[in-house]
Amino acid sequence: MIKDVLLGRIRDRSAKVGIVGLGYVGLPLAVEFAKAGFRVVGYDVSERVVGAINSGRSHVQDVPSTELGALVRSGMIEATTDDRRLADVDAISIAVPTPLSKTRDPDMSYVLAARDTVARNAHAGLLVVLESTTYPGTTRELLQPTMEQLGFTVGQDVFLAFSPERVDPGNPEYHTKNTPKVVGGITPSCTELTAELYSACIDTVVRVSSTETAELVKLLENTFRAVNIGMVNEMAIVCDKLGVDVWEVIEAAGTKPFGFMKFTPGPGIGGHCIPLDPHYLAWKMRTLNYKTRFIDLASEINSQMPVFVVEKVALALNDERKAVNGSRALVIGVAYKRDVDDVRESPALDIMRLLASHGAEVVYHDPHIAVVVEDGHEWRSVPLNRSEVERADVVVIVTDHRAIDYQMLVDRATLIVDTRNATRNCLRTGARIVSLSSAAHVAGSAEPVGSGD
Ligand SMILES: NC(=O)c1ccc[n+]([C@@H]2O[C@H](COP(=O)([O-])OP(=O)(O)OC[C@H]3O[C@@H](n4cnc5c(N)ncnc54)[C@H](O)[C@@H]3O)[C@@H](O)[C@H]2O)c1
Repeated sequence: MIKDVLLGRIRDRSAKVGIVGLGYVGLPLAVEFAKAGFRVVGYDVSERVVGAINSGRSHVQDVPSTELGALVRSGMIEATTDDRRLADVDAISIAVPTPLSKTRDPDMSYVLAARDTVARNAHAGLLVVLESTTYPGTTRELLQPTMEQLGFTVGQDVFLAFSPERVDPGNPEYHTKNTPKVVGGITPSCTELTAELYSACIDTVVRVSSTETAELVKLLENTFRAVNIGMVNEMAIVCDKLGVDVWEVIEAAGTKPFGFMKFTPGPGIGGHCIPLDPHYLAWKMRTLNYKTRFIDLASEINSQMPVFVVEKVALALNDERKAVNGSRALVIGVAYKRDVDDVRESPALDIMRLLASHGAEVVYHDPHIAVVVEDGHEWRSVPLNRSEVERADVVVIVTDHRAIDYQMLVDRATLIVDTRNATRNCLRTGARIVSLSSAAHVAGSAEPVGSGD
């Protein structure tokens, strides 16, 4: 049987694995497959990405170039822009982008292009696993018919599954190998083969009964985060109006050993997942005449947080008898989250654009991001030194990278708007610190001071 032959090739590692899309998800996966003993062909449309990989340079923060370089030199990983190189692989994982269109509907163009690439090179005995985050039904509705039009029976001649990626960029504890991976196939054979393949390089594989279940698992995980972040962001606004320190409330609530999970408020959400993925589900449900209210509400609150932060900045400057117009604002951190080099959907971009549109002179410092281009405007990271901090009328902490010297900021700045509570452990020295919620304080002080809000 075709399935048994493929199973044997997976078990004895003679199977060759193709990866379509070598980004934050595809490249770490390629490395794990290669480390498990499979020869890997990575296909990407970007010459730049392929060139870098073949010369052993990693463009993904969590993949060390030393590790990638060794696998490339030993012939275990090879990248290509020629899709015909996929013709002799036994399994293909697709990890291409799934962004939203301008109207916030799913943009499936990358998945469709990848599907057509795979179809051009498909043969009996091929396993195809979609990894891109998408709405429930994608694998069955968009991939299966294409395979069948080629004359293959899915589950007998070719095998098709969905397995959501859970990579958390910058997480020092959990990476591709030790993060449990969910797999769901079109048929039980599809699930079995996918589980066998991934078990070779991932510690724990969790089987579910269908591709729709696997697709929805990912959307539940990310909707759970978006909704809870939205709820805690609303709590920050509530605390602001009540004059209560939201961070103190969360810290104390976090002492409950059961039934509470800590989420932290911030300047908004970013990255390729949390702000986008829930809209895939919302879109799907709209086609079924159902409105996903939690998703809509969380999105509304989270997307307004940059406006809330800019209002904080304006009021804080007002207390200093200054206007936003003409003030110099130093934004600390533009990445969408701590210690990553990714600005996709980062709320910092909205904050900088809004401050600039109100006439502020905006500069930023980010140890991980040298240049930002937003709406045709190019910003370059300024060095973080005393004079840069002293020159600023306001320092706005947007992303709490670990490499920043927060004590220096508190010592040298006049005014800090701290959206992440990054200055909580600093000694009270100079700056007036305005928090996301109302209890504006000088660092280390138990006494709320200043209004600023
Ligand atoms: N980045 C994350 O943290 C993360 C986490 C979990 C899931 N995901 C999901 O994984 C998928 C991929 O995300 P990513 O962050 O790796 O994206 P990415 O932008 O880092 O990488 C995608 C790669 O695919 C390439 N590509 C685009 N179209 C292609 C095509 N037709 N054929 C071959 N290559 C093509 C691009 O050149 C790029 O190198 C998305 O659906 C995303 O939602 C991402």
